[in-house]
Amino acid sequence: MAVKSALGKLEDLRAEALIVPVYAEHELLGAAALADAALDGALSELAAQGGIPGKIGSATVVHTLGRLGCRRICLVGLGSQDELTLDKVRKATAAGWKRLADEGVKDIHCAVLGASGEALLEPVQAAETVIEGALLAAYRYDRYRGDRDLGQPVLTVYTPFGEQREALRRGIEVGRAKAEATTFARDLVNTPPSELPPVALAEAARGLAADHGLVCTVLGEDELRRLGFELMLAVNRGSGQEPALIVLEHRGGQGPAVGLVGKGVCFDSGGLSIKSADGMMTMKGDMGGAAAVLGAMKAIAELKVPLNVTGVIPAVQNLVDANSVMPGDIVTGVAGKSVEILNTDAEGRLILADALAYAERELQLSPIVDIATLTGACMRALGPIYGGVFGTHPGLVTRLRQVGLQSGEKFWEMPLDDEYGEMMKTPIADLKNISGDLSGGASCAAMFLRAFLGETPWAHLDIAGLSISDRDKAWQPKGATGFGARTLVNLCLSLAKTGLGQ
Ligand code: BES
Ligand code: ZN
Ligand code: ZN
Repeated sequence: MAVKSALGKLEDLRAEALIVPVYAEHELLGAAALADAALDGALSELAAQGGIPGKIGSATVVHTLGRLGCRRICLVGLGSQDELTLDKVRKATAAGWKRLADEGVKDIHCAVLGASGEALLEPVQAAETVIEGALLAAYRYDRYRGDRDLGQPVLTVYTPFGEQREALRRGIEVGRAKAEATTFARDLVNTPPSELPPVALAEAARGLAADHGLVCTVLGEDELRRLGFELMLAVNRGSGQEPALIVLEHRGGQGPAVGLVGKGVCFDSGGLSIKSADGMMTMKGDMGGAAAVLGAMKAIAELKVPLNVTGVIPAVQNLVDANSVMPGDIVTGVAGKSVEILNTDAEGRLILADALAYAERELQLSPIVDIATLTGACMRALGPIYGGVFGTHPGLVTRLRQVGLQSGEKFWEMPLDDEYGEMMKTPIADLKNISGDLSGGASCAAMFLRAFLGETPWAHLDIAGLSISDRDKAWQPKGATGFGARTLVNLCLSLAKTGLGQ
């Protein structure tokens, strides 16, 4: 989607609508103050009467009735001025966008909320975040709808302050790349599962490589057998489709590449340990980790992040067939450790075990971050609000939590502990793939993954329950969320600036 910029006096602005900020203290600052002055104090009078709520999520539209070239002012609540965050700017912009788009406005201007004369946030970051908010709110998956609306409103970021010209330029570039990381991931997750087998996911990666100068390598079944990816192949045994290991490289700097490993289960029926009908309903989203990695790689390439980054995606289908792997089977993968597969629905950890071992040993990636819709247990612990983060390197965990907050994607640290590892022991193999205990499932799964890595700094993001949402939010319509994509982009931007350290 095209994003434009406009700079100049408010009196000269010709637009259908302009989004401006209002704070909980009923303060009209920046572009809102200019609009108020041009309307002879009408906005502050309305605010004094309590007619313009400043709380996050509110959007109040005032028609200017010919007194301004801009026909509507949309005041979006940013909460208390002292507690302003980038995420609030993102959500407030989305609320304004949704309100105006629902009214049928086709030309939406938005002030640089939080930085236009309010001097609270860095103008570049504020401009970037405004664009993210608007583009995330504009997202629709309507490919299969007869009534799809092709006429999206046009977004113009506006500032009356000349010194913000450069901030606007850079903000648009970065904000659009980050928002499109998310919307690219959303499109993949929303795609019906029959349309997106592993080879189609690999095609999407090849497309990114061709468009953005990434290097893409796809390993198919024969190659995977040769390299010993037996755990990954075991999961795919019930599928009539070829599996794919997708490796996507961005060469932007010196030194070892950061590894982003995404779970790509294109559909998870549970296999012979089959899920219930209800449990299967969102399982086209079991490649949400893979989608986040692909979306992030697209933005990392577009932004030319000065760092080497490699995305690794094991892509399979977990289906039921006479050839499916059976509970009780023992399989040895890339790392040479044997696994007793007691529940075929705990498949994500099996494909990740091979991918992580390969990422560390063969590709020598460091640090390694994996992202996966891994356990119902993590979803039950944290609900649809937080993802779980586990890690062997405290600095990496802290960094992920920080950049997650900045992205509006929250993570809560969960424990890795040898005692959970003990629960994954079996007398007849090196490990089993379920603990057999009803509790502690998220940490047991994380310790299972840990067993396939050596000393490389590693973090694991469990985003089960976050890749598809059943609630409509201004910045995220019901359906695929693209959760994690912007966190991974921001992680790489942050690592490019300040390395990981010890
Ligand atoms: N893909 C699921 C995890 C999941 C559950 C994601 C709900 C999104 C929403 C995963 O493969 C799975 O089925 N895990 C099992 C593991 C169990 C059998 C040890 C689970 O969490 O129930
Ligand atoms: Zn499963
Ligand atoms: Zn799964």
